Amino acid sequence: MNENRNLRICLATAEFAPLAKTGGLADVSAALSTYLHKAGHDVRVLMPYYASLKREHLLIENVEGLQNLRINIGPWDVEYSIDKATIERSGLTIYLLRCPALYDRAGLYTSGGDEHLRFILLSRAAFEMCQRMQFAPDIMHCHDWHTALIPLYLRTLYARDALFARTRSVLTIHNIGYQGVFGADILADLNLGHFQEQLHQDDIAKGRINFLKTGILYADLLTTVSPTYAREIQGSEYGMGLDGFLRARADVLVGILNGVDSDEWNPETDTLIPHNYSAEDKSGKENCKAALLAELGLRNRTHQPLIGIVSRLVSQKGFDLLEHVLPQLLARRDFSLAVLGSGEPHIEWFFESLQRHARDRVCFYHGYNNKLAHLIEAGSDLFLMPSRYEPCGLNQMYSLKYGTVPVVRETGGLADSVQAISPDKGTGTGILFRDYDEAGLTWAMNTALDLFENKPLWKKVVHNGMTQDFSWQKQGEQYVNIFRQLSGS
Ligand code: ADP
Ligand code: GLC
Repeated sequence: MNENRNLRICLATAEFAPLAKTGGLADVSAALSTYLHKAGHDVRVLMPYYASLKREHLLIENVEGLQNLRINIGPWDVEYSIDKATIERSGLTIYLLRCPALYDRAGLYTSGGDEHLRFILLSRAAFEMCQRMQFAPDIMHCHDWHTALIPLYLRTLYARDALFARTRSVLTIHNIGYQGVFGADILADLNLGHFQEQLHQDDIAKGRINFLKTGILYADLLTTVSPTYAREIQGSEYGMGLDGFLRARADVLVGILNGVDSDEWNPETDTLIPHNYSAEDKSGKENCKAALLAELGLRNRTHQPLIGIVSRLVSQKGFDLLEHVLPQLLARRDFSLAVLGSGEPHIEWFFESLQRHARDRVCFYHGYNNKLAHLIEAGSDLFLMPSRYEPCGLNQMYSLKYGTVPVVRETGGLADSVQAISPDKGTGTGILFRDYDEAGLTWAMNTALDLFENKPLWKKVVHNGMTQDFSWQKQGEQYVNIFRQLSGS
């Protein structure tokens, strides 16, 4: 066999940027598949054709032979079609699973009684698509709980199809906090027949089925999105009940840090920011700051440090700490704050009240806004991510590229992508605190604000961050290497 032949990969995902995104899963599915495609591999991406799919500039076509198909999911006779669209910039074709009965909903995810069906269909359709295209994948690459049944399906329902004889499954865990746990009453919808004994029987006895756990048990290879998170989830503090299963499979668990899609996130070429700049000429960054302050109606004092936050507003991200630390810090120190996000009501309420009390220094933009996310990355001086846990985190890497110094908790991918500053040597890229407590965060924020005043060191730290290499070229190769090892090619 040719040592370096191109790989055939079927990648099934619930999110793909910019078509359907709630978080970093979308960025990573898009950037990794684009990297693989450009590197010459044959990647077939399958994702749901959500009603909310961003269709602008997308020419969607029916795929011949993949229209008006039917599949039995438990007692349900589900009709679906597969369409395709080519992403203009990369030339990558993605396949869209059209099933209005399941995907015509307001958001990407629902809390409805048929949520499991939406992702069982995605997982099954990945196989059905390969069969109808006579595409024999080396790798079925699934992501998070949504497609985590694929490894078991490969070993059961589709095991007898010679097309998949050499196929290996890889499950990438982006966030172990979301496991896809359903009541055992959905058992019939998995169509496993007598294979259902392969599901975790203690769970069934307790009346539940855990999709992510099933993937962890049966994938040929497990990856997660940073080396530190790969270690952390094997312990009880971060494993969210799955640590024992991960320890049992530690020999096939690999941590690969995500990369940054430099077509999307690059201050030299970014079309969403008003002034471009680079590590060599940073002058445009000052103008971005002025533009951001004006856009958000914040007092325009460009010499005052501006701290940015762009985030899903969920407890994972450390907002309970901020609730205690920020009001006091705002009273004591001179800085302003730009927050973009939406999520849990009590966190939204916190930022709304903070804004009410200091309208000229705090702006909370409630919602999702990609353009503003870019402007906050470019216009802020510091970027705050005090996460309780963070599998990888992308914003801190975007911040580094944009010359915005990250202030992060030392966990998961934050620990792997931000280097502590050594004032004597002038090395390091950001501020890290270890203990998840108010003292830790207060120390980190004071240190960051002091650093901003120390201009010679500040400039070095900014420059160090901007010249880091987080390219997918580097990270994507690691996926290719493990895919090759696994498929024996
Ligand atoms: P997570 O996937 O846990 O949300 P990441 O840091 O990996 O965290 O990725 C978050 C992604 O979502 C980034 O691309 C970030 O810019 C984007 N994002 C999050 N919230 C918003 C928002 N309110 N508006 C625009 N982009 C957002
Ligand atoms: C998850 C994680 C985040 C990671 C992203 C992409 O949503 O919370 O840390 O960067 O997936 O892998």
